[in-house]
Amino acid sequence: MLQKVRKAVFPVGGLGTRFLPATKAMPKEMLPVVDKPLIQYAVEEARDAGIEEFIFVTGRGKVPIEDHFDRSFELENTLKERGKLDALEALTQQLPGTGTVAYIRQREPLGLGHAVWCAKRYIGNEPFAVILADDLILSEKPCLSQMISAREDLGGGNILATMEVPNEHTSRYGIVKPGFDDGSRVEIKDLVEKPDPKNAPSNLAVIGRYILEPTVFDLLENQARGAGNEIQLTDALSSLLKTSPFYGLRFDGTRFDCGDKIGFLKANIAFALNRSDMNREVADFIRDFAADL
Ligand code: G1P
Repeated sequence: MLQKVRKAVFPVGGLGTRFLPATKAMPKEMLPVVDKPLIQYAVEEARDAGIEEFIFVTGRGKVPIEDHFDRSFELENTLKERGKLDALEALTQQLPGTGTVAYIRQREPLGLGHAVWCAKRYIGNEPFAVILADDLILSEKPCLSQMISAREDLGGGNILATMEVPNEHTSRYGIVKPGFDDGSRVEIKDLVEKPDPKNAPSNLAVIGRYILEPTVFDLLENQARGAGNEIQLTDALSSLLKTSPFYGLRFDGTRFDCGDKIGFLKANIAFALNRSDMNREVADFIRDFAADL
């Protein structure tokens, strides 16, 4: 029987240099889209997909993330006294259960591959998900749930979220060398981290959602540094795919690169326009404000 994906890793050690000065004293994962921090969207997506254990690989200056997923008795009492029960309910129901969250310090910024490797002991010998909170996806069915369904249909294997990007952007992503492709699911023949457009095997990019077999940890353990002199997850996956089935899923939804200022602004507009309590007002405002552009 197919082993269930029960655990997710959230690498949150990154410095967020593309978003300075906002991220000087605040983790980039705490930037809010409308009224929720990016990391909360990521955790809710995981929970919706059936994830039961949440493993954060953190770094210095990331303690606000731990506070965010903790009880806050003072705040809760104040909301209760003031009769703000809706806010209280929203605050408490977003919390993962006691004992289901772990925080590991990455200590050195050695790259995404190293961050994932740090979670090895917590994952053990079972398939797991990796979610990069920077990649925010607006969709009807959450992206990770789409991937879990695809994994069930395919009978297991490693699954990566993928989407087509402009040719000139291949150097920002892990890029897939595609095999059999049915328009939705793509067999992955190879992966290259951030290739120049002239060397890229396609323009199908990996987006920050992965379902991986635990054998990846042995490969990460000995993985040499790659692009940007970092230990790259993509390089370990490129070895893993020689022995383990690998697929890309073109997910349904719109992805926003929230590590980037414009991407983040677009996410705020799109998520606000998707909310019935504010979409009219926001749409009117944009129409008026942008009328002369
Ligand atoms: C990371 C991965 C890359 C992937 C990207 C998706 O890059 O290394 O393969 O395509 O996330 O957002 P980063 O954005 O951390 O440089």
